[in-house]
Amino acid sequence: MSKNACEECHIRHGKIAARALKEREETKLCYLCHTAMASDIAKLQSQHTALKDGKCLPCHDPHGSDEKGLLKKTGPELCFVCHQQHRL
Ligand code: HEC
Ligand code: HEC
Ligand code: HEC
Ligand code: HEC
Repeated sequence: MSKNACEECHIRHGKIAARALKEREETKLCYLCHTAMASDIAKLQSQHTALKDGKCLPCHDPHGSDEKGLLKKTGPELCFVCHQQHRL
């Protein structure tokens, strides 16, 4: 985003996916550049089901964020987006 490289992820004309994105699946879109991460994760014995389900966007905002790591929320709030919060 800091280089205004919108077309690294979006297609100017035509539309093959929602938001005119280059890839339909979000992991595929992110792994276009995050190739080391893709191969590192593939080697791990155990993977978070969220990743196995092909999710990046529930946790990250690809455009920008006030939080570090482009996160949409921080701390437990990030996890409670999908996991139910139980009273302790
Ligand atoms: C790293 C990849 C990436 C880059 C670079 C990127 N976008 Fe996006 N953009 C996305 C994704 C992924 C979505 C869909 C977000 C969602 O559905 O939660 C999106 C959604 C959008 C939307 C729909 C509205 C919204 O905010 O959800 C607009 C408009 C948009 N992008 C414009 C831009 C512009 C303009 C640029 C360059 C300044 C840009 N994007 C750069 C990945 C990117
Ligand atoms: C066009 C190439 C490209 C694409 C596509 C891309 N990224 Fe990135 N991303 C980068 C670069 C370059 C950096 C900065 C260097 C690095 O950390 O590898 C970065 C950094 C990040 C960071 C770390 C930011 C920080 O402040 O530490 C996150 C999180 C991230 N990307 C998430 C995503 C997600 C989620 C997607 C898919 C929606 C995505 N990226 C798609 C190029 C890309
Ligand atoms: C369940 C939430 C969650 C999901 C899903 C998720 N991430 Fe992250 N990601 C995080 C958190 C938390 C961090 C650490 C941020 C920090 O503290 O800097 C992080 C860090 C990162 C970083 C920067 C650190 C590094 O290892 O280089 C990148 C790049 C990144 N994520 C990309 C992705 C991509 C691509 C996907 C989808 C394949 C994804 N993430 C899915 C929560 C998530
Ligand atoms: C995008 C939705 C989503 C988010 C956000 C999310 N998770 Fe998950 N997580 C899942 C799903 C789906 C499962 C598998 C079903 C279940 O156990 O609820 C799972 C399972 C887990 C498991 C058990 C291992 C596994 O994958 O089966 C742990 C541990 C876990 N999550 C931790 C976290 C933490 C910590 C966070 C916050 C950083 C977080 N999750 C955020 C979707 C998510």
